[in-house]
Amino acid sequence: MKKITAEQLRNLYLKFFEDKGHKIIPSASLIPENDPSVLFTTAGMHPLVPYLLGEKHPAGNRLTDVQKCVRTGDIDEVGDASHLTFFEMLGNWSLGDYFNYESIGFSFEFLTGKDYLAIPIERLAVTVFSGDEDCPRDESSANRWKELGIPEDKIFYLPKKNNWWIAGKTGPCGPDTEMFIDRGTEKCSPDCSPACDCGKYLEIWNNVFMQYYKNEDGTYSKLDQKNVDTGMGLERTLCILNGVESVYDIELFEEAKAEIEALTGKKYGESEEVTKAFRIILDHVRTATFLIGDTKGIVPSNVDQGYVLRRLIRRAVRFGRNIVLPDGSLSKIAKCYVEKYKNAYPELVDNQAKIYDELNKEEEKFSKTLNDGLKEFNKVVTHIQGTTFPGKTAFRLYDTFGFPLEITQELAKEQGFTVDVEGYENAFKEHQKKSSVGSEQKFKGGLADQSETTAKLHTATHLMQAALRKVLSPDVSQKGSNITTERLRFDFNFERPMTQDEIKEVERLVNEAIKADVPVTMEEMTVDQARASGAIGLFDSRYGDKVKVYTMGEFSKEICGGPHAQRTGDLGEFHIVKEQSSSAGVRRIKAVLTEKAN
Ligand code: ALA
Repeated sequence: MKKITAEQLRNLYLKFFEDKGHKIIPSASLIPENDPSVLFTTAGMHPLVPYLLGEKHPAGNRLTDVQKCVRTGDIDEVGDASHLTFFEMLGNWSLGDYFNYESIGFSFEFLTGKDYLAIPIERLAVTVFSGDEDCPRDESSANRWKELGIPEDKIFYLPKKNNWWIAGKTGPCGPDTEMFIDRGTEKCSPDCSPACDCGKYLEIWNNVFMQYYKNEDGTYSKLDQKNVDTGMGLERTLCILNGVESVYDIELFEEAKAEIEALTGKKYGESEEVTKAFRIILDHVRTATFLIGDTKGIVPSNVDQGYVLRRLIRRAVRFGRNIVLPDGSLSKIAKCYVEKYKNAYPELVDNQAKIYDELNKEEEKFSKTLNDGLKEFNKVVTHIQGTTFPGKTAFRLYDTFGFPLEITQELAKEQGFTVDVEGYENAFKEHQKKSSVGSEQKFKGGLADQSETTAKLHTATHLMQAALRKVLSPDVSQKGSNITTERLRFDFNFERPMTQDEIKEVERLVNEAIKADVPVTMEEMTVDQARASGAIGLFDSRYGDKVKVYTMGEFSKEICGGPHAQRTGDLGEFHIVKEQSSSAGVRRIKAVLTEKAN
């Protein structure tokens, strides 16, 4: 077998199929075009579906490429020797041109040819479809393998479960023939075959003979054209050819691995726990790098692809703690990948500033709350009776500490608990209902983040403005406000810096209102009524005819779009952390809420 690098394998493969009349096409984006049913491109055939169904491809009917793929279905398995969430798939296609005879011939030549992978023929085993009521036994593929010299006892007939390929529930599909390397170990049982996972056989290539379409009702229709769709996983093939134990031992991870070693002082392989953390970080940072750096790049968020990206980054940060990976490391690891992949995927170089920036931002955001969240998790866990981790608490970990549900589930599992997912979802819905006042106003007031923390900070801003008017001057009014999950920022008109005593007094008044624990009530009224009621706030037209006036006992009455806490007592303790100039005649305060010390 040929010892080979990723770059050599990509080039060798593409050149081989180019010589066989295939046009080399570029990898499509990881974010599927016009297909809302899946989040990511999961196989080389995915971007080609319209052409498998009969549309003419501009590059012809023989194509080859190396496609970036992301599959996150097995994300929890990442950390073992073989799972990856990002991988490259080498593929070649016939769109209604050649079929199984030629396709198997190409594969055999590439696998065994001395100028190609040079795999000794006795190391190969293959599988073919055994046939059922939907599609006959694939004798013609088996015969072709025999003709090429594969002995009968190395040809296995397997059912749909093993030898049928479809992406998802419906769509183009068909029987396949799969190629394996026989590692030469003993059979695990007399029935040992590539279908079992004893490790004797390692899959290297899959050729699908796509000639059917699976309909919604589960029936199969014949396609107008007979296609071939093949897929060879780059990482796995490199692992096999180079005779290494795990996909993480291939050369693509070398620099990133060395970087993590340098950053942590730990050695990959020094213990099971360390190895697992390394692999999770190596995998998740690589996938995140490709997702952010894609031509249709995404950023972390709370929905769809952005949520998966967030989950990957946060999981990497969490496992980073196990090997004391310092903050700010993810972008350094990403840099190794940008360098490693710059020739094959130049978009990573074009987007590198964005990759580092997004990784840093997300890492920083999560690092800040991770320790507190873990503390909270451990506290809760000690009080649980039974094995169910409460959904409400899982929601609180999400809302307050940024723990994606899956991280809580994983932590819970490690300690023998199962998260009540229904309870989590109910808490989520409940929360959405509560903050729907806010979301209605989202476009009017620019208040996009509805989390509990921002609601509290928002409520604190009201109390602070009222206190500033009392302490400094009744003419004080809002010139700007910005709230993140960490702090509030408030700009107001005032000519000079505040004194320490004034700052202390404002803090005292706000904390007094919090201690009073009065309900936050809301009333809708016209702008004129609001003015007459003594409410403060921005009386401009963006609020529409009716406005919402929030009242907190005697402390504050203000027009606002929300979201708000339910009672002032929910806020915790208020601290001003900075008072500074913002612009001429405008001061800026930054303030935070901390848990009440008691
Ligand atoms: N579409 C086939 C696969 O992904 C080739 O395995």
